[in-house]
Amino acid sequence: MKTPFRLDGRRALITGGASGIGEATARAFSGAGAEVIIADVDESRARKLAQELDRASVRCFDITDEAAVKNAFATIDRLDILVNNAGIGLVGDVTETSLPDFERVFRVNVTGLFLVTKYALPHLLISNGSIVNIGSVAGLIGVKRRFGYSATKGAVIAITRQLAVDYPKQIRVNCICPGTVDTPFVEGYLQKYHADELEKTRSELNARQPSGRLGQPEEIANLALYMCSEEAAFMQGSVVPIDGGWTAA
Ligand SMILES: NC(=O)c1ccc[n+]([C@@H]2O[C@H](COP(=O)([O-])OP(=O)(O)OC[C@H]3O[C@@H](n4cnc5c(N)ncnc54)[C@H](O)[C@@H]3O)[C@@H](O)[C@H]2O)c1
Repeated sequence: MKTPFRLDGRRALITGGASGIGEATARAFSGAGAEVIIADVDESRARKLAQELDRASVRCFDITDEAAVKNAFATIDRLDILVNNAGIGLVGDVTETSLPDFERVFRVNVTGLFLVTKYALPHLLISNGSIVNIGSVAGLIGVKRRFGYSATKGAVIAITRQLAVDYPKQIRVNCICPGTVDTPFVEGYLQKYHADELEKTRSELNARQPSGRLGQPEEIANLALYMCSEEAAFMQGSVVPIDGGWTAA
C-alpha cells in the first residue's frame, strides 16, 4: 500500500521558513520527500536549517519588497507548493494602534502574501500546485487587543477563498488558522509586552485554549503537509482552525 502524505518529487517554497511554524513545516515537508526552499529575511537561521535538511535551499528576501520577490522567483524554474507563512504580530485595540504600526502589519501579513502569491502563481498553474496560507483564530473571532493583527488575518482568509474561487481546477488553496503556538513569535510577544509578568501571562495563554496548552509548531506543520498531499485533493478553499478548541467554545 502507498504511504500517505508524501511529497516526493515536489518542490515547496515556505516563507518565514527559518523559524517557528515555517521551520517545522520545512522539516515536515523535507521528511515527506519534498525539496524545500526556505524563504526568509533571517539568512543565518535559514542557512543553518537548510544544512540540517535533505534537499533544502535558501532564498533570502523580504516578502514586502516587490523587486526582491520578483528577483527571487526569477531564480526558480518550477514550483509545486507555496506556504505563505511569514507574518508578524501587533498588540493593541483601535485607540492604541498607530497608523505606521497598522500599515506595517498589513504590509507584511497581507501585501507580502499577495506579492509572493502573485510571482509564484505562474509556476503553480503549470504544476497544478497547492497554496497553504497561515491565518489565525484572530481572523475568525475577536481577540482582545489584536485590532490590526486580526484585520490582516481576516484578509488572509478572504484571499484564500478568492484564490480558490478564481482557480478552482488549476490550483488548490487552503488556510490554516492556528490558536496560540509555542514559537519565537509568542516568546517575543511575552518579552515585549509582559516582561514583568511572564509566568502569569504564559498560564493565561495556555488557558485561552480549552485543551489547556499551546499548540506545537509540528502540529500545524502536519496539517500543512496533509493539505499539500494528494490525500487532500478534494480540499479546496477550506479554512481550518487548529486551536485546542478555542473557536469551538
Ligand atoms: N505562533 C502563534 O501563536 C501563531 C498563531 C496563529 C498564527 N500564527 C501565524 O503563523 C505564522 C508564523 O508564525 P510563527 O509563530 O512561526 O512566527 P516566527 O516569528 O517564529 O517566524 C516568522 C518567520 O517569518 C520571517 N519573516 C517575518 N517577516 C518577514 C518578511 N517581511 N519577509 C520574509 N520573512 C519574514 C521571520 O524572519 C521568521 O523567521 C505567522 O503568519 C503568524 O501570524 C502564529
